[in-house]
Amino acid sequence: MSLLDLHDVHTFIGKFHILEGVSVEVPQGSVVALLGRNGAGKTTTLKTILGLTPASSGRVVFDGDDIVEMRSFDIAAMGIGYVPEHRAIFADLSVEENLRIAERRKGDLERREELIFGLFPDLKRLIGLPGTSLSGGQQQMLAVARALVPENRLLLIDEPSEGLAPVLIEQMIEAIARLSDTTTVLLVEQNFLVASRLGTTYVIIEEGRSVKTGDMTDLVDDDETIQRYLGV
Ligand SMILES: Nc1ncnc2c1ncn2[C@@H]1O[C@H](COP(=O)(O)OP(=O)(O)OP(=O)(O)O)[C@@H](O)[C@H]1O
Ligand SMILES: [Mg+2]
Repeated sequence: MSLLDLHDVHTFIGKFHILEGVSVEVPQGSVVALLGRNGAGKTTTLKTILGLTPASSGRVVFDGDDIVEMRSFDIAAMGIGYVPEHRAIFADLSVEENLRIAERRKGDLERREELIFGLFPDLKRLIGLPGTSLSGGQQQMLAVARALVPENRLLLIDEPSEGLAPVLIEQMIEAIARLSDTTTVLLVEQNFLVASRLGTTYVIIEEGRSVKTGDMTDLVDDDETIQRYLGV
């Protein structure tokens, strides 16, 4: 059964028709890789799921409920976590304050500490430091950790490996692989190697439309599709 289902979703930003028919199925327990070139509409797809750029038509069904008309706050409260692109943390707050802000209920952090610091041991060491004193990779880990503070059923993660050094990319892959044992993930990732290692299935978006989908194991051997839509 699908935990999340987008069917023929259209989204406008201002007068611009950005998503022109996006369908994505995210089975419970899977990692779905959302792929496509710069400007294809990957981030807008995640924002549309969350109601940040609401769909004008189509269906967005989460765990059996159509959420397309709901407000972002209520959508998130259903158990959907979001890791925005470009490491959106609060730079002038400490690591702990960044994590506290993500609490949905008091004490969420205590309940989830073992998991979070198990995945990202660096953050435990840095807990009192401001965001500004973290490296790019540590900031990205904090951005992911924040989405783990409340117990979410689905995580939307936008370009977690962007701008990271290879050793940190490896840590990030490891962390997402481990958290995907317990949480379903919709992952936007331009680094095809990262996407192919984490994804169970894929959806390719081109010019605001989902154009191809299938098992990741098939895509890895499909040079023609990779060249045509991803150009790597
Ligand atoms: N606020 C906005 N106003 C106007 N156009 C926008 C806005 N946000 C995004 N767009 C346009 O919508 C299209 C899709 O953008 P989106 O950010 O979803 O792409 P993306 O696939 O995430 O790209 P990237 O790989 O660069 O992150 C792009 O053409 C972009 O220029
Ligand atoms: Mg994007």
